[in-house]
Amino acid sequence: DAGKGEYDHYMLKEINSQPTTLANTIEGRVQDGDVVFEDLPEGTFADVETVQFVACGTSYHAAMYADQLLRSAGIRTDVVRASEYDSMSGPVDENTLVVAVTQSGETADTLDAVRTASANGARSLAVTNVVGSTAARETDDAVYIRAGPEVGVAATKTFSSQAVTLALLSQQLAADIPDVSPPEDSDVMLESLDALPGHLETVLEKSNAESLASELIDSQSFFFIGNGLGHPVALEGALKFKEITYEHAEGFASGELKHGPLALVTPETPVFAVATGSDSKTKTNAIEAQTRGAPIVAVSPDDNPLVDVAEDHLSIPDTHPVWAGLLANVQLQLLSYYAADELGRSIDKPRNLAKSVTVE
Ligand code: AGP
Repeated sequence: DAGKGEYDHYMLKEINSQPTTLANTIEGRVQDGDVVFEDLPEGTFADVETVQFVACGTSYHAAMYADQLLRSAGIRTDVVRASEYDSMSGPVDENTLVVAVTQSGETADTLDAVRTASANGARSLAVTNVVGSTAARETDDAVYIRAGPEVGVAATKTFSSQAVTLALLSQQLAADIPDVSPPEDSDVMLESLDALPGHLETVLEKSNAESLASELIDSQSFFFIGNGLGHPVALEGALKFKEITYEHAEGFASGELKHGPLALVTPETPVFAVATGSDSKTKTNAIEAQTRGAPIVAVSPDDNPLVDVAEDHLSIPDTHPVWAGLLANVQLQLLSYYAADELGRSIDKPRNLAKSVTVE
């Protein structure tokens, strides 16, 4: 299984492997409606008062996802770009859990941030894909995302596995930390997780991302917007797009568009609007962009109101809003892949980039 198999690139193979890798991530971790992590028994986090995520790039976007989930459970939390940790961390103590989110477990900025936090007294946890990695060895505890080796420089399956692992971890934190409790619809969220690998298969089988990429590839710039849990997905969509197509792409919180970026919007700048839940801000702001001539692509379930006004649609199955963002992200992974393929880019090894960045 180590080769590319039937695929032209490892990235496409890894995108298509997600129903299997996610099933592996999930396996055994929800039992009788409870989240179960080996080595992290119930009550493990009973002393935690504050959570701080540190990460870079795609892993930072997965951490943003988790940060929002913890906030919704009433947990004090923050997410810090590891490369900015020295200026942005704020105080930590023994009741702070610093969570290093790193696929490789070897990213220098992330290791440096978690070492600084540990030296200042924080407790540490690695969420990583690589058993025996530096992050796993140096932190107090480790949780593995179980996505299998990722060869393509562009992170794809690891983002999905990180986000799901972190969502489950959020549930355990909410259960363990005194005076907070998991969000009301947690049971529904956990029940709907079973269907996620099947929903991913549906996206992979039915996606129109290839034809859409071909239709839009000559555009000047590509914008991605989303609010709430759609925000990290929009940022991740733009990162992936610029990383492998070398085209100009930017991601924004939907409501920020009108605070500056709207000046860049023209008929030559398609806007991909990630609308996966109650996204009133995304629809309103997408229409603002449309009024300036931008083609809008709704990345959403079929019944989202944005679909009625958008020029194009990347459809995702109906599911719990926490998982919907992951399905939207897979559509955007396919979009980036096919756009880069059409442009003849070096997809698995984009110029100037390395799989793991071991320098600060
Ligand atoms: C994403 O496609 C990139 N390859 C990059 O942003 C990556 O996610 C980042 O360098 C962090 O890597 P890590 O997860 O191994 O720490």
